[in-house]
Amino acid sequence: MSYHYWRNAGRPAKSGFAALANGYHGETLGALSVTDIPLYRDTYAPLLRKSVRVPSPDWRLAGPGETPREYAGRCARALEAHFERHAAETAALIVEPLVQCAGGMAMHDAQYLHLARGLCDRFEVHLIADEIAVGFGRTGTLFACEQAQISPDFLCLSKGLTGGYLPLSVVMTTDRVYQAYYDDRLERGFLHSHSYSGNPLACRAALAVLDILEEDKVLERNLRIAAHLNRRAEKLRSHRRVAHFRNTGMIWVCATRNPASPGTFTGARSGRACCCVLSGTPSTGCRPT
Ligand SMILES: Cc1ncc(COP(=O)(O)O)c(C=O)c1O
Repeated sequence: MSYHYWRNAGRPAKSGFAALANGYHGETLGALSVTDIPLYRDTYAPLLRKSVRVPSPDWRLAGPGETPREYAGRCARALEAHFERHAAETAALIVEPLVQCAGGMAMHDAQYLHLARGLCDRFEVHLIADEIAVGFGRTGTLFACEQAQISPDFLCLSKGLTGGYLPLSVVMTTDRVYQAYYDDRLERGFLHSHSYSGNPLACRAALAVLDILEEDKVLERNLRIAAHLNRRAEKLRSHRRVAHFRNTGMIWVCATRNPASPGTFTGARSGRACCCVLSGTPSTGCRPT
């Protein structure tokens, strides 16, 4: 959709996509092309489109003495340098806001999203927020982007959208993008869909989930649960074997030091982190235990 928008806008050269290192966006060829997890990617590498990786603001990668926010700023400067050279051929930057889930629940400071939004505006590049995993309360707000006070040009949603009861996904976009497609010339329209697109039953389930989120005050309840779990996890956080303890909203991660090699810790990029994920969505509403 982003590419077609630029094509309709008379800029067909904007056909490239930039994505964060260690990101995951799915397994169809387009989504896999912007995914950076070798386990999923390598087998199909010859079939994939070239896309560009920019540094992930994952705060585990911050330098000594560098705060997550400072590191987010450093990654944003790398993004800026990339756009300076390649914005003319870049359609969009795709990110998983606040938590790169499949990449080992890697968390970053909201400042990155704020700065990335500014750069995307300045260099005329779309910002795609893939909130398929983090949307609907998992990070503490309904959408993770809210914590950076930004709106993306495209917002990808699924999973929590129906509370897991029925399969549904949605790509939301802006009026500006919508208008670029709204034309009597067929080739300017977005003609693609799937057999079950807009399935009414799944849409009804999604509406029910939105009602439950509001009526049961799920987000407020999650704040209380998160505060409780953080209090209970205090001993774990400061345990000598624990190298990384991190939390965003209703996601907790605890990675232990590797006793064989004290400078390293299990789970950093290997996906073996002891990882506890609690859902903020109604179907899997959790209780502190
Ligand atoms: C961030 C993110 N994007 C995309 C996907 C893939 O979604 P789908 O299976 O609906 O293609 C996932 C699935 O786990 C995900 O976590």
